[in-house]
Amino acid sequence: MSEHDMKGQGFSTKQIHVGHFDIPGINPLATPIFQTSTFVFDDTEQGARRFTGDETGYIYTRLGNPNTTQLGEKLAALEGAEAAIAVGSGMGAVTTAMWTALRAGDHLLADDSLYGCTFSYFTHGLTRFGVEVTLVDFSNLENVKNNLRPNTKAVYFESPTNPNLKLVDISAVSNIVHAHNPECLVFVDNTFCTPCLQQPIKLGADVVIHSATKYLNGHGDVIAGMIAGSSAFISECNLFGLKDMTGAVLGPFEAFLINRGFKTLDIRMEKHCKNAMIIAEHLEKHPKVKRVLYPGLESHPQHELAKRQMQDFGGMISFELNTTREESAKFINSLRLCTLAVSLGDAETLIEHPATMTHSTYTAEELLKANIPQSLIRISVGLEDVDDIIADLEYGLSLI
Ligand SMILES: Cc1ncc(COP(=O)(O)O)c(C=O)c1O
Repeated sequence: MSEHDMKGQGFSTKQIHVGHFDIPGINPLATPIFQTSTFVFDDTEQGARRFTGDETGYIYTRLGNPNTTQLGEKLAALEGAEAAIAVGSGMGAVTTAMWTALRAGDHLLADDSLYGCTFSYFTHGLTRFGVEVTLVDFSNLENVKNNLRPNTKAVYFESPTNPNLKLVDISAVSNIVHAHNPECLVFVDNTFCTPCLQQPIKLGADVVIHSATKYLNGHGDVIAGMIAGSSAFISECNLFGLKDMTGAVLGPFEAFLINRGFKTLDIRMEKHCKNAMIIAEHLEKHPKVKRVLYPGLESHPQHELAKRQMQDFGGMISFELNTTREESAKFINSLRLCTLAVSLGDAETLIEHPATMTHSTYTAEELLKANIPQSLIRISVGLEDVDDIIADLEYGLSLI
């Protein structure tokens, strides 16, 4: 069913049906895997027309494939964007979008709490190519206002941030940036929320970035990324950023798996959120826990913003223990159900230590500046029975 036919339908219907690619005469329920690198032209004229864009149709999988088209249509419908593309990883999405938006001499203003590799790409990658980069704390809107420059072409943040679960007011930042320069693009990494919990474009942002490795796929078996935005920007991302700059193409099989994951996104998110809320409340009351960071807790400094901006509070929790680093490590190592692994958004509960793992690209000083404590432990709450997750955490806490 095309997006046109689906207008007015609900999130669950769209996550299942948008983008289905039919083959008349065969009519498969599930879109088949188009495991092909290239597509055959009828004749030279047709090939030429496809390259000039005078005829729509597939050319070569780096430029598009029915399985990735399907994902793009689906995410665009769910994010309320004009268009979207799927790429080979979340970092492929970040880099493809930035190589498309920025040129030497431009300025990028970004929040200071970022996924470790995004931080590294901004501070050590883009700067090599003549892009000026400033990182400040976006939870203080004055920092955004005061650091916009005439050459600021992109403003970038996550909300909630990885790993310290800070929120950024998407609509306030978008208003400030667009009042300064309507052409400046506001990018939001919506990986932690998915469009099920937050739609940044509806709040005024221009472009949404995803690590589709996480909740969108949801089953821990794929690396992928997505970008959603205006048709003009997504087309430039596809025909330049992805085609020529990064080549970060997603394979048809991975796209097939993500499409399958997409079909249950809302029911998975509901349980991730429900489990996370119970666990956050439980940890907050525990005498061995110093502090819990979860937007759903009233103790979260931006709980009111979370209620306004998010439909639910997500499946990610970070916390610190009232103990030494060695004891914190002992706690993590002793867990039997919660799995020690980076990544997030999977059916399995995953636990990790950001300072030495996902955020090891930050120096100790940079972590301090970004308000990412060395002692922070991050949990991606899975879909198991919540009592079993709590029993495992309790077991670990009893040993320290
Ligand atoms: C918020 C966020 N953005 C982007 C990425 C990068 O995604 P990928 O690992 O799929 O390249 C990650 C990975 O953990 C992430 O957590």
